[in-house]
Amino acid sequence: MTFDILTIFPRLFDGFCDQALIARAIKKKIIRLSPHNLRDWTHDAHRTVDGRPYGGGAGMVLMVEPIVHAVQELKKRHRSRVIVFSAKGKLFTQADARRLTRYEQLILICGRYEGIDERVAAFAADEEVSIGEYVLFGGEVPAMVVIEAVTRLLPGSIGKQKSLADESFGDAKGLAHQQLVAFVEYPHYTRPEKIKLGGKTRAVPKVLLSGNHAKIDAWRRQQSVRLTRRRRPELK
Ligand SMILES: C[S@@+](CC[C@H](N)C(=O)[O-])C[C@H]1O[C@@H](n2cnc3c(N)ncnc32)[C@H](O)[C@@H]1O
Repeated sequence: MTFDILTIFPRLFDGFCDQALIARAIKKKIIRLSPHNLRDWTHDAHRTVDGRPYGGGAGMVLMVEPIVHAVQELKKRHRSRVIVFSAKGKLFTQADARRLTRYEQLILICGRYEGIDERVAAFAADEEVSIGEYVLFGGEVPAMVVIEAVTRLLPGSIGKQKSLADESFGDAKGLAHQQLVAFVEYPHYTRPEKIKLGGKTRAVPKVLLSGNHAKIDAWRRQQSVRLTRRRRPELK
């Protein structure tokens, strides 16, 4: 899977590519990650990528031409998908991450300033994606979100592929009778078994120390359902 990222701040990806499991996925050739400077597709002395908004208003808008030319040049694979980031886009979910693993190349367009000329979403992108209902400075963090969410689903990118099976936002197979579309994961605990903080003692739930795996599985399923109903009513 190749990720081509179009940004005016390519160096934001330096640490992201160099560290932890993304660095390992690159080293193992599971993914290729190429941040590109959008200014490389400009033709004026100032390498201009933005302009004032038609109709007036605050801020600058990223221009359509450098982006369209960059996409045309970068689109090399047969199974490629172009994503433009915008707060008003469709909310990105785990189901989208799973769907995007089918492509060989993702071209990720990161906005800045007041946003991107609307014609990019209309003519150059396959989808307009938001990572949540808040406004960020730019599309670089959303690009990192999509890259991480997709990469960890690719075979070989995390140690135990089995740990993906019962993660949050899985397909709720084991919980089908609960009529949930998806679920959030049960809580985890590790050492120490008991801890005293601010005069209160907090202990690990007894069932997890029982060694009875059937009981532990049942408790975890019950916790998943309880937490999903309480915190994610939209998954019902
Ligand atoms: C400051 S924002 C522009 C916000 C825009 N004026 C609005 O009100 O929606 C600049 C860029 O950051 C990115 N961005 C900001 N928030 C985002 C979000 N929640 N999801 C995806 N991209 C986002 C987009 O690429 C956007 O073009």
